[in-house]
Amino acid sequence: MTQPLLSVRGLQRRFGGITAVKGANLDLCEGELLSVIGPNGAGKTTLFNLISGHDRPDGGTVRFGGVEVTGSTPERLAALGLARTFQHGRVFANLTVRDNVLMGTHSRMKLARPGPPLLGALRELFLALIRPPGVRAEEQALRREVEDILHLFGDRLIPRLDRPAYSLSYANRRRLEIARALALRPRLLMLDEPTAGMNETETAEMRTIIGQLKARGQTILLIEHKLDLVMQLSDRVIAMDDGAEIAAGTPAAVRHDPAVVEAYLGHRHMGGEQTPDAVALEASP
Ligand SMILES: Nc1ncnc2c1ncn2[C@@H]1O[C@H](COP(=O)(O)OP(=O)(O)O)[C@@H](O)[C@H]1O
Ligand SMILES: [Mg+2]
Repeated sequence: MTQPLLSVRGLQRRFGGITAVKGANLDLCEGELLSVIGPNGAGKTTLFNLISGHDRPDGGTVRFGGVEVTGSTPERLAALGLARTFQHGRVFANLTVRDNVLMGTHSRMKLARPGPPLLGALRELFLALIRPPGVRAEEQALRREVEDILHLFGDRLIPRLDRPAYSLSYANRRRLEIARALALRPRLLMLDEPTAGMNETETAEMRTIIGQLKARGQTILLIEHKLDLVMQLSDRVIAMDDGAEIAAGTPAAVRHDPAVVEAYLGHRHMGGEQTPDAVALEASP
């Protein structure tokens, strides 16, 4: 077997008295789509934060592209080709749609042109002021690339290229965040509940888009609450509850695993109200 792109071993994170992630293990190969499911509070986002460098583990290791990256900064991980989105969408509200996506390409350019920090910045300023033909050609190419990425979202974002992100609908801000992550041309794309807060039509649209990315060979690690979407898109699924893995395998096997059914139904009973997840599980064949 080829070496996995992402390899996580024994990852742990404690917050005071609670252990949010209790020794997580996972391997993700190039081109695969692996989903992490589990009830609220299971530790999914914390696991993402530990992998993407937004939080540091208390134990365990993360390897990415064959390099040990445990505890690295998000910037270093981005430079290595890891891009993620957040459960509570993050975009630059005062920048336009176009500039938000351009920001994503910028991290990639810095990677392509490493240099001493101060001299590099001066050189960039000089090039921006003088704008020699090479720079102008590059700008043109980048603008085209931004538009290509935005076309993935149909007519949701393209007509709004020059609008500030704060003027977008919630669903469009979440789409924009994914567009910005794609501008990095990531080796690994991590999506934390990309359809949270979206209605059925928007969710179906997002499922198509993620499916298209997968068909292009994009490696994806997905946290998702909507089980139908998970079942349709994933090569493999890991189910977590209370910080630990309770099941792993094919979508069908995980969906029908008694521990998974119990975790979702148990949470329903504790909550007193039937969650959409529990309904989805019960409705499944
Ligand atoms: N920064 C933090 N400080 C304290 N507790 C946290 C923090 N982040 C997460 N937790 C706790 O860790 C557990 C897992 O949270 P989280 O990873 O957000 O779960 P999920 O994404 O599966 O809903 C929860 O009990 C949550 O309250
Ligand atoms: Mg979460």
